[in-house]
Amino acid sequence: MSRLPMIIASVAVVATAGIAIAGSHGGNPAVKARQAHMSLYAFNMATLGGMAKGEIEYNADAAKAAAGNMAALSTLAQGAYWVPGTSTAELGEETRALPKIWEAGSTAGEIGGRMAEAAQQLAAVAGDGKDAMAGALGGVGKECSACHKGYRQPQE
Ligand code: HEC
Repeated sequence: MSRLPMIIASVAVVATAGIAIAGSHGGNPAVKARQAHMSLYAFNMATLGGMAKGEIEYNADAAKAAAGNMAALSTLAQGAYWVPGTSTAELGEETRALPKIWEAGSTAGEIGGRMAEAAQQLAAVAGDGKDAMAGALGGVGKECSACHKGYRQPQE
């Protein structure tokens, strides 16, 4: 009896463990989680931005819902998916998170904190009419841009 079945069985175990770590669709689960978080930001910001620009009719309930989501999302604990060792330096094209995020002197956390404050302010006025909402929206958008400019790899 050859040892081959035994070896195949061990390979299968290793492969299964690899899949469990990588998640159901492959890829680093921490990267996927933070990208999903960012997608939720983008979805809600698109609703509010569309209303601010007049592309979507302003609706106080919809504005309050989207702004409330921004306020809630921005205060979620995100540390578990912004883990060291998951930057472009280690994972290459799988992520656009630059190593600078985790280096000494990084301001990414402060920017995130300012964004959370701006999102609370937005949520407080989002139902008070288009102009009030649009005015506060800029404060949130500014922090998205600040962080992307400093800490996200530009798209090729
Ligand atoms: C504290 C820093 C920071 C803030 C604040 C921030 N982002 Fe990001 N964002 C990033 C980084 C870093 C990435 C790249 C993540 C990765 O690829 O692992 C990213 C990625 C994204 C992506 C791409 C997601 C994907 O599927 O690859 C979108 C969309 C996005 N951000 C939207 C926003 C919006 C909208 C806001 C503001 C409401 C915002 N972000 C605030 C740092 C930030």
